[in-house]
Amino acid sequence: MQKKLILLVLMGISAMQLSAQGKSMDDFIDRLMAKMTLDEKIGQLNLQVAGDITTGGNQNTQVEGLIAGGNMGGVFNLKGTDKIRALQEIAVKRSRMGIPLLIGMDVIHGYETIFPIPLAMSCSWNTAAVEQSARIAAKEASADGINWVYSPMVDISVDARWGRVAEGNGEDPYLGSEMARAYIRGYQGDLSHKDEVMACVKHYALYGAVEAGRDYNTVDMSHLRMYNQYFPPYLAAAQAGAGSFMSSFNLVDGEHATANHWLLTEVLRNQWHFNGFVVTDYGSIGEMTNHGFGNLKHNAALALNAGTDMDMCSQGFLNTLAQSAQDGTVDMQTIDRACRRILEAKYKLGLFADPYKYCDAKRRAKDIFTPENRLAARELAEQTFVLLKNNRQLLPLKKQGKIALIGPLANDRANIAGTWCVAYTPERYATIKESMERAVMGKAQVLYAQGCNLTRDPALQKAAEFGKSIPRGDDEQMKAEALRIAGEADVIVCAMGECADMSGESSSRATLEMPDVQRELLMELCKTGKPVVLLNFSGRPTVLTWEQEHLDAIMNVWFAGSEAGDAICDVLFGVKSPSGKLTMTFPQNIGQVPIYYNHLNTGRPVPEGAKEYRKYQSNYLEIRNDPLYPFGYGLSYTSFQYGDIMLQGRTASVTVTNTGDYDADEIVQLYIQDLVASISRPIKELKGFQRIHLNRGESTTVSFEITDDMLKFYNARLDHVWEPGDFKIMIGGNSRDVKNVTLHLE
Ligand code: BGC
Repeated sequence: MQKKLILLVLMGISAMQLSAQGKSMDDFIDRLMAKMTLDEKIGQLNLQVAGDITTGGNQNTQVEGLIAGGNMGGVFNLKGTDKIRALQEIAVKRSRMGIPLLIGMDVIHGYETIFPIPLAMSCSWNTAAVEQSARIAAKEASADGINWVYSPMVDISVDARWGRVAEGNGEDPYLGSEMARAYIRGYQGDLSHKDEVMACVKHYALYGAVEAGRDYNTVDMSHLRMYNQYFPPYLAAAQAGAGSFMSSFNLVDGEHATANHWLLTEVLRNQWHFNGFVVTDYGSIGEMTNHGFGNLKHNAALALNAGTDMDMCSQGFLNTLAQSAQDGTVDMQTIDRACRRILEAKYKLGLFADPYKYCDAKRRAKDIFTPENRLAARELAEQTFVLLKNNRQLLPLKKQGKIALIGPLANDRANIAGTWCVAYTPERYATIKESMERAVMGKAQVLYAQGCNLTRDPALQKAAEFGKSIPRGDDEQMKAEALRIAGEADVIVCAMGECADMSGESSSRATLEMPDVQRELLMELCKTGKPVVLLNFSGRPTVLTWEQEHLDAIMNVWFAGSEAGDAICDVLFGVKSPSGKLTMTFPQNIGQVPIYYNHLNTGRPVPEGAKEYRKYQSNYLEIRNDPLYPFGYGLSYTSFQYGDIMLQGRTASVTVTNTGDYDADEIVQLYIQDLVASISRPIKELKGFQRIHLNRGESTTVSFEITDDMLKFYNARLDHVWEPGDFKIMIGGNSRDVKNVTLHLE
């Protein structure tokens, strides 16, 4: 026994790691905490940036000192097992307690194999594929030393001005909940394996409801709306066993989300039984001073007492909690509770048993950016594109003749992956031009011109970081070149829209139309009389009213990740039919925002599709209420016909037939309206969906069982109930074009 112990110690496995293996978690943590000083406990609650990946991940010596002194529970933003192992060694070998670090990163839609942005992934409505994307992200990130990812972001938003809609799952609570669960399953598994990582659900709560879509702005909302519309995905993630939650930057009921006892303790822990830990968002405790809550010491104590366990980057816990413990503003039990939660997370990750579990340098070569991972990203990307218009079946394009490929996004590899690709390696990603040349080689000719700058607006250009990789030139000269190749071509394909940093954090927009010079070029290209296809790059719903009127085909390709080029070509040339469906409503005008399908009725409703302004009804003078493209909308290369709904008891079925010429996937959607209720209920709510595949000419019957859960809502007392009566059951291929029947339930 003695010999075995010596051997293990020689192998670098400490006595603490040995004891972690045999004991129950509580027992192990009790003994550990009994040996910790107050400062060491507070140290566990401190999280900081370890290095700046953008400058090559250089470590920060201040951070090393804090780790050695036992003043750090975790670090983030460091890439590479060598650098991470070095920090972990400082924690394990040089700090008195030898407690390993949490190593976090914003792994949002892939690590080096980049998947489409989350908003795009949600448009696949393919929860299994999204789960797989998280599984692959976990595998890659953990192969490079990461054990904790700041994902999924499950904030509901109905405001396309808010740039962070790119990181979420759109406007619907039901779909958002399904996606939340898929991400948690994919990242965490059961956390027992080397390739599983802890998820961090963010941003709790209501961050997507910032006023005017301006990032970090005020939020104010009724509890009814919170529970019915905004909370469900957070609840789903908690129930799926998420290991951690990140609090949001905004106010909830006038208090900061980071210091809101009701939100963090009564709802999250007592009602939802979440048992992981809560970390603040970046510097939130420090920001509370600007919100008018007082000084750092006061705010740190408020946050801890409310249920926050870890402080990201404000050093409020680190520098003030000891004093607050002394003067009684916080008590020891509260510090112990937070410390225990952090230690539990480390225990669950297996870090006490092996602090270097995630530092296996050999895995890097074998698990990251592999052909299988890239194939999964390509196949999922293909399912995220939403065909918005396809006049006279211009798409799919034939691989013949001359194709003019034009636009600032056509030959750029830094932008196509999208916002939040902290660990990405764009030099390895193909541009659309490269993929297209490969796809049509020997059959058609690709003529390329950038055509214009991203924008001539200096403010927008300056703000758009990634956009800088797009060469800047003289718009007139570029336009002349584009028109020249357009004149030679049989068809024009434009790769235009936003650059990656025009959505994401701190990228709120006050206009949603195609940027100036790009729109002007589109106008010129239309004048050639050649068919024009727009591949619209966007991290949000953009306003495509002009494009819908004037272009022949529009496909929203979002930011589709590292395999964007090949995936776009697969769909453009018909290897696959587009099958994505919108998970956010596309407005016809920014004045309609916030716009969402599952809204309440007014006392003076205007019927869908009304053509004229109606005095004293709920509408605008200049434009009608209908969106440009409704929630759930997306065309295919084939057509699907929906039969009438058949009701048998609580089972609603429809027969769906592929009546066109392509084998394709369709997303069949179930919506329900509670026709009479104790509180006003939305005009329709998604309650089920199925992604089906039908070969041409084929039919299938799709059935949904109407469960009590689908009918439930939070009533005025916030009880989760369903009320007997009439329900409108709707099934269709989008939220607008549905068949319906009434179901009466006692
Ligand atoms: C963002 C979070 C992110 C954190 C760490 C914050 O600014 O709001 O989503 O996880 O930074 O990078």
